[in-house]
Amino acid sequence: MPKSCSSHIKVSHNYISEKVNSIPPSGIRKFFDLLSSMEGVISLGVGEPDFVTPWHIREAAIHSLEKGYTMYTSNHGLPQLRQELAKHLESRHCLSYNPDNEILITVGVSEGLDLALRAILEPGDEVIMPDPSYVAYPACTTLADGTPILVPTTEDNDFKIKADDIEQRITQKTKAILIGYPANPTGATMPKEELAQIAELARQHDLLVIFDQVYERLVYGIEHTCFASLPGMWERTILLNGFSKAYAMTGWRIGYAAARREIIEGMTKIHQYTMLCASIMGQMAAIEALKEGDSEVEAMVQEYDQRRKVMVKGLRAIGLSCFEPKGAFYAFPSIKVTGMTSEEFAEKLLMEEKVAVVPGTAFGQCGEGYIRCCYAASMSEIEEALKRMGRFVDKHHRR
Ligand SMILES: Cc1ncc(COP(=O)(O)O)c(C=O)c1O
Repeated sequence: MPKSCSSHIKVSHNYISEKVNSIPPSGIRKFFDLLSSMEGVISLGVGEPDFVTPWHIREAAIHSLEKGYTMYTSNHGLPQLRQELAKHLESRHCLSYNPDNEILITVGVSEGLDLALRAILEPGDEVIMPDPSYVAYPACTTLADGTPILVPTTEDNDFKIKADDIEQRITQKTKAILIGYPANPTGATMPKEELAQIAELARQHDLLVIFDQVYERLVYGIEHTCFASLPGMWERTILLNGFSKAYAMTGWRIGYAAARREIIEGMTKIHQYTMLCASIMGQMAAIEALKEGDSEVEAMVQEYDQRRKVMVKGLRAIGLSCFEPKGAFYAFPSIKVTGMTSEEFAEKLLMEEKVAVVPGTAFGQCGEGYIRCCYAASMSEIEEALKRMGRFVDKHHRR
């Protein structure tokens, strides 16, 4: 018998904190671990562009490496990137942020979200957010010692969060409202008037609003409203955004937060002790994306729009009701006609027809009866997936 290099001593103690034990692993990852061991699967699962980052953006990063840019940047991020972002926020949303102290470059929106919550929450503070919502919203709130307060949203209301429903949940402990539009997993968007009602609540109850607009550029036939641009909301908003979705840059891990100075200072304190800075290569690429990437973004948005139409029409044609998503790259059809739970549906669909979708419950209890289908896949994959799903729904339709 070969000797083992390390001998493991048995320990009975569970070293993981109660807080970490209390949060479930991401329901998206669980599915994709299963998928990785299968062949011939069409994935409508992971929320990621199927495009590669445009060449000139990759080239800018390569050039920066050739020139020897391999070191840490300022904790806040490269000044040039912050300046470009300040210009971008001014020209797109008429928002004025000082690049020296009101913008922080983060490791994706993911880090921005974590920093924002950790910077503002006292233990037990409540954060109001929609259900279903992006998997990280409740988990990061719990990890920051806050309490997520979920507001049910429904297909009848196009999965928009209602100001009245938020108001009913406001207590002495409410610190912030956390919303992201266009939304993951539903593709829902919020019209300006309805965001203005939420702004009014924030003003009346002295709340902050964390606004995640990572899908800002991916809207179809509507105008995106940036929450911070609503009257009086610049001061109350922590704006989060990044390069992952619009520029097909998920792997570069570059995001940013924009907010008033003391909030950015608080977030930077945590960032400097945990992350130091985002990668210099990614930041160099992001500068190029902001300066020269618009035409590619527009071309990708047009392509997503075509796929969105085919996806929604196809889902309806096979008997699944589906509200029309006007943003992001997700459709969120109801699978209630099959009588299956979302998990059952997703698991059986994967096993029987080799199509991967995410059960709606991965995003909250209100996702029960729905699945998330990401249409950032090629048109031929979408068409084939719809064919397989049609066969599956026919077979399992509750009669
Ligand atoms: C709503 C939402 N916010 C944030 C993120 C994370 O983005 P990033 O890649 O910038 O960390 C995602 C990724 O799917 C998302 O859907």
